[in-house]
Amino acid sequence: MKAVVDPTLCSGHARCNAAAPEVFELDDLGYAALASGGAATVAPEYEQAARDGALACPERAITLIGQTTTPQNRETKAKP
Ligand code: F3S
Repeated sequence: MKAVVDPTLCSGHARCNAAAPEVFELDDLGYAALASGGAATVAPEYEQAARDGALACPERAITLIGQTTTPQNRETKAKP
């Protein structure tokens, strides 16, 4: 999964960081550091945190690309 922050939408609410500090760091001005450009690869163990951070953003500035199956979903699919 990759996380992308749209710099035209990020207004520095910092809720993404509060929900998922492992994924969304803030820059010196309090904006999501990813808003300065690029995308970050999210480690599988932080994918749920990334989703929580994206949902916490009131500006809907965060896009998650290529979400993989969560361990919980894999477990569900394995059942007959
Ligand atoms: Fe920006 Fe939204 Fe985070 S406005 S700082 S991406 S909560």
